[in-house]
Amino acid sequence: MAVQISPSILSADFARLAEEAAAVSNADWLHVDVMDNHFVPNLTIGLPVVEALRKAADTPLDCHLMIEDPDRWAPAYAEAGAGSVTIHVEAAKAPVRTLRQIRSAGARAGLALNPATAVEPYADLLGEIDMLLLMTVEPGFGGQRFLDVVLPKVRRARELITAHGGQVWLQVDGGVAAETIERCAEAGADVFVAGSAVYGADDPARAVDALRALAEG
Ligand code: DX5
Ligand code: ZN
Repeated sequence: MAVQISPSILSADFARLAEEAAAVSNADWLHVDVMDNHFVPNLTIGLPVVEALRKAADTPLDCHLMIEDPDRWAPAYAEAGAGSVTIHVEAAKAPVRTLRQIRSAGARAGLALNPATAVEPYADLLGEIDMLLLMTVEPGFGGQRFLDVVLPKVRRARELITAHGGQVWLQVDGGVAAETIERCAEAGADVFVAGSAVYGADDPARAVDALRALAEG
């Protein structure tokens, strides 16, 4: 499984998003954290910014929807040209239908689990998704401390994905940095979101390369 790095623009300068996107052109994805102040206690950006960023950035957009009503909104993010749209299982009322709508609109479909949400109940959904996102912090803010307690779940998810044929990507998000990325890779993650570790660095592109090298081992 190839390592992929998805810098989170939550830690970028929102007044210069196009430049901040271009600063990490060596990344595989650009992670876009959509928050609605209901599912999480923070409010960020929505569809108009995603539409603008898609035109301004060459890197495909990895949209992470931390919103209360993903069933209503997720297809629109796929139609807006996001390369990947991830919904939270804790928020979705009809996840299978919504995941299918994301795929029909031409995007990869992702399912996200909060730190305290077990992965086993969702093993049957692996056929409906292209990526499983395991949160390694409580969603809502960048710059939080990595939760080691999630690592056994990363291992378990990798086992379930392997048993299912291995095509589903396994993403970790939250507190992923030089100090933690190797543990995530060793546990079986292959797509790594990093916000503060990339945009907090003097040279974001170098930070992406350094994280990739660590994850590749
Ligand atoms: C948190 C977001 C993350 C966040 C990660 O709710 O989903 O994508 O930007 O930021 P860092 O890498 O700083 O923990
Ligand atoms: Zn995120």
